[in-house]
Order: sequence, then structure tokens, then C-alpha cells
Amino acid sequence: MSGPAHTGVPTVVLSGAARGIGAATAGYLAARGWRTVVLDLDGEGAAGVAATLDAGHPVPGGHLGAACDVSDEAAVAEAVARAADLGGGIDAVVAGAGNLERRPAAELDLGSWQRHLDIHLTGSFLLARAAFRWLSAAHGCVVTIASVGSAFGIPRRVAYAAAKSGIVGLTRTLAAEWGPHGVRVNAVAPGYVNTEMVRSGLAAGALNRGALLARTPLRRLAEPDEIAAAIGFLVSPEAGFVSGAVLPVDGGLTIDGTFDAFGGEAAG
Ligand SMILES: NC(=O)c1ccc[n+]([C@@H]2O[C@H](COP(=O)([O-])OP(=O)(O)OC[C@H]3O[C@@H](n4cnc5c(N)ncnc54)[C@H](O)[C@@H]3O)[C@@H](O)[C@H]2O)c1
Repeated sequence: MSGPAHTGVPTVVLSGAARGIGAATAGYLAARGWRTVVLDLDGEGAAGVAATLDAGHPVPGGHLGAACDVSDEAAVAEAVARAADLGGGIDAVVAGAGNLERRPAAELDLGSWQRHLDIHLTGSFLLARAAFRWLSAAHGCVVTIASVGSAFGIPRRVAYAAAKSGIVGLTRTLAAEWGPHGVRVNAVAPGYVNTEMVRSGLAAGALNRGALLARTPLRRLAEPDEIAAAIGFLVSPEAGFVSGAVLPVDGGLTIDGTFDAFGGEAAG
């Protein structure tokens, strides 16, 4: 955000923000004076987040929560225009809507493959594109959400990893193309975060908690607030010269080359 020429309250549009990382980010930014526009497939959940923020961090005109399927071009355009009307502009977009189905690649149906690409990749593109005219007017920014799946192949998540790898290309290309318009575009790449997406995998046995923690140098999951704080940095004026970056927030997972039996703690 730098120099919004409107209501004085900067406006951020967040997708997939009815819960998890998106909801934590909405809370983090609202606590710092932002108006949040919370979009989610779960409209009731989105409205609930906005109501909570209205109570805890009121802004003139209020926060807004609304149902929006990010893979629906017309719905995204409408929601973004509504956000711009409310805020007198848009200063930031956080594209976080996501799904995850775990299945062997050889058994993955086209519908599931397509859904991942539609939600993560096309959804991020549609949201950023719809907001561009207001972002360029405000010299605003976009933050996308990549993943360790942008760096690693992850068996049984081929569509997720392909979509998240695409997010990196989307982010870098928008950063290169929109930089001359004063719009910064960055990604965070979280490791494993304590949200429903990961909790469901642990509960179903698709993820092994012990192996996951042993593979993560900080030996724990991230909390959603920690991802929100990294996103908060990327949208802040302190990151005014940061664009095209993919910021790992993964407890060191993607830089750890440990393959010995000591989990990286042995002297030699
Ligand atoms: N949790 C993790 O460990 C982790 C790690 C790396 C990246 N991520 C990414 O972070 C983002 C948020 O994940 P989370 O962990 O908070 O997950 P989550 O499942 O808690 O939240 C995802 C939200 O996206 C919404 N959503 C799904 N499809 C949508 C659509 N078509 N339109 C609008 N909203 C839709 C869901 O309703 C849900 O509220 C996702 O892009 C995810 O891939 C998560």
C-alpha cells in the first residue's frame, strides 16, 4: 500500500478467507487499519469473519464478507467491483482460495485436475486481473499463496503441485508486467500450517505428523498467524521494493538436505 487516493482506509480483497490462512490474514490486516473484503465459496463463513472484524476493528463503511467462487470470472469481477465501490478503490489483493484432494496421479480424474487449476491458478489470475485498474491507481500490490508444492514434487498431489508451481510463474510474470504500473506482486510459500487443509490430512493418515516434524528444521507446524504476518510484511510499505519474490515461510523445510538418521542434529 502506498498513497491510496480515496477514503483514507486502505482496502484489501482476500479470497478463501472464511477460515485458515485467509481469515488469519484478514484479522492481521484489520488490526492494522485495513478494510477487508473477505471472499469465499463459503459466504456465511466470509460474512462471519467480516462481522467479527467489524466488532473488533471497525472501519468507516465496515468490512465486507461475501460468497464468491474465484473460478467464476463474472462472480470475481462483480465482487471486486463491489469492493472498489465500498473502499473507493483497492490497495491490495491476497489470493488464497485453495482446495486439496489427495489421489495417485494415475487415478486422478480430469475434473479434479481441472478444479485445482481453476481454483488456485485461474482463481488467482482472475482476482488479480479484476483488481488491476484499482491497484495501479493506488500503487497497490498482490500477494499469492504458493506452497512447498511449488518447489517439490509431492506424490498424490499432482494437480495441487502443478497449480502451485503455476502460481510462481503467474506471480513473477505479473510482477514483471505490472511493476511499471507501480503494482508489486509477490508470493508466500508456506510449509505445513495448522489449518483444516493439514489437519484433515493428519486425521486421514495421508500425512505422518512425526515424519513431517522430523523433516521440518523448526520441528513444528506453522500457525496461520505466522503466514499472515509474512503476507502483512509483503503488503506493507516496508516491502516497497520487494516484487516478484517467492518468500518461503516453511520453518526451513525446503532448504533442509538432511538424509541421515539424526534428523540434522548430529555433530558429524
Ligand atoms: N495449510 C497449509 O499447510 C498450506 C501450505 C501451503 C499453502 N497453502 C495454501 O494456502 C491457502 C489457504 O489454505 P488454508 O490452509 O487456509 O486452507 P483452508 O482449507 O483452511 O481454507 C481454504 C479456503 O478456500 C476456500 N475456497 C475453496 N475453493 C474456493 C473457491 N472456488 N472460491 C473461493 N474460495 C474457495 C474454502 O472454502 C476455504 O475457506 C491455499 O491456497 C492453500 O493451498 C496452505
